[in-house]
Amino acid sequence: MNTTSKSVIYPGSFDPITKGHENVIERSLDLFEKVFVAVAKASSHDKKGLFSPEERVDLIRECFSGQERVQVVLFDGLLVDLAMELHTPVIIRGLRAVSDFEYEFQMAQMNHQLRTEIETIFLAPDQKYSFLSSTLVREVAALGGDVSDFVSPSVLKKMSKNL
Ligand code: PNS
Repeated sequence: MNTTSKSVIYPGSFDPITKGHENVIERSLDLFEKVFVAVAKASSHDKKGLFSPEERVDLIRECFSGQERVQVVLFDGLLVDLAMELHTPVIIRGLRAVSDFEYEFQMAQMNHQLRTEIETIFLAPDQKYSFLSSTLVREVAALGGDVSDFVSPSVLKKMSKNL
């Protein structure tokens, strides 16, 4: 596979998509013609979920409705296999802080070992989202906190139904 790419894959659990994720997608759109947002059915992290994988896909689609350059896909199995299937050898991941680095570095190295054509690039989200994670959003919302600054209105609406 040629490693020059007009598209990029942004994989994750997205349970739910946060404004930090949206920021990474918007930044990716400045660099690539197309962004495949890839929602993993199962994550390497053992996390208690809030939304089903299908619901997560729908929420991301709602957040980017009208943006044809964002395509949301659900995947099972290895990310590198999806990358080959989509003819997209570039993976993008957000790096919020140094604490993200070790896990991200391991994943990038493993993916590159599995398929040498696959490269991972990292994007820093806007500083105002550097503390934000889906896990914290779920926890704060479950305990009655206001998460309206951290997720889009459509996500917020769906969260209040699911909690
Ligand atoms: O948002 P997350 O939970 O940090 O995303 C992790 C994700 C989904 C990108 C990672 O778990 C993944 O790539 N899963 C797919 C299975 C896979 O390829 N595992 C090997 C990773 S080196």
